[in-house]
Amino acid sequence: MTSTERASSAAAVVELRSDTFTLPTARMLEEMTRAPLGDDVYGEDPTARELEELAASLLGMEDACFMPSGTMGNLAAILAHCPRGTKALAGAESDIYVYEAGGASYCGGVIVEPVANAADGTMALADIEAAFPEDPEDPQFALPALLCVENPQNRCGGRVLPLEYLAGVQALARARKVAVHLDGARIFNAALALDVPVRVIAGYADSVQFCLSKGLSAPVGSMVVGSADFIRSVRRIRKMLGGGMRQAGVLAAAGLVALREMTARLGDDHRTARRLAEGLAALPGVEVEPVETNMVFFRVDTPHLTQAEFIERSWNEGVRLAELGRGRIRAATHAGVSEAGIDRALSVFRDILAPAAVLSTRP
Ligand SMILES: Cc1ncc(COP(=O)(O)O)c(C=O)c1O
Repeated sequence: MTSTERASSAAAVVELRSDTFTLPTARMLEEMTRAPLGDDVYGEDPTARELEELAASLLGMEDACFMPSGTMGNLAAILAHCPRGTKALAGAESDIYVYEAGGASYCGGVIVEPVANAADGTMALADIEAAFPEDPEDPQFALPALLCVENPQNRCGGRVLPLEYLAGVQALARARKVAVHLDGARIFNAALALDVPVRVIAGYADSVQFCLSKGLSAPVGSMVVGSADFIRSVRRIRKMLGGGMRQAGVLAAAGLVALREMTARLGDDHRTARRLAEGLAALPGVEVEPVETNMVFFRVDTPHLTQAEFIERSWNEGVRLAELGRGRIRAATHAGVSEAGIDRALSVFRDILAPAAVLSTRP
């Protein structure tokens, strides 16, 4: 049993709100106590450097920079790619556009322009093209400098962007002379779903941000990877944003365990997600979206119970869920959710949705 599972079962809670609730493993905590350390702002923390070198080599890029969060990683990447007054194109459902507090505009004078995401997470290439002004010399228009893609696309249901699609995005970006930044917060889940090494997905981008602190269970941290020149800029921007972390090796030690030991178990999360989706699909009034990774998006539509009531009653039974975007509920599986936890969640949902139980709660 992992430390996350121990914590969850001790509290008899099935935590499905996010894979960010994962706790560091025992091995991470052990490595954190014995990591060689130095001042990383001086470039002298050997453990942080080891993590950066490992991340760069796994993703097939020249260099990497350890970041306190995915949000700061995406922000530093956007600022490094985009001069002030230019546009970064990003999905209307992307984390960068929806959840990152407008950082690129606030800190860098960069316009983040949303492009519609289809249900499968893709943005139509024609819609991306439409964000480029017909006449780039016309002084009225801000010019795109960056195209951001998210894979897996979280708010579209953790859907995985196919490699052929990424190839199309890359070709468009090259033709238009803009860079591609991949928000690969969960890139290892995408790689598993596509059955390719992460470096194949990263090969379609100029820079990638990925998180150690989600399905990989590290307590803190993200990596930005790219060319050596790009990472030099990112490192400067990280310092400017207050992300220089001094003895960062304490956290990087957990990140090393995340990359060495935790990617191999993500298949368990995809299996528990499918188990949950299949169980949910058999319940009355539940509509489940296609599942490709560790995310299960669904709606509860019954005349007897609102979705908010469904979430609240699940919480009261120790099954934690949250609404996430356009009236859908998201359940994320992770190292803290076992098969038994999924079965318990399904039995709670079954009881809540059983017509007799529903009716008995009404006056
Ligand atoms: C797709 C995606 N990108 C970026 C982030 C931001 O990561 P962080 O929470 O570490 O800032 C998240 C967080 O959930 C995410 O889901």
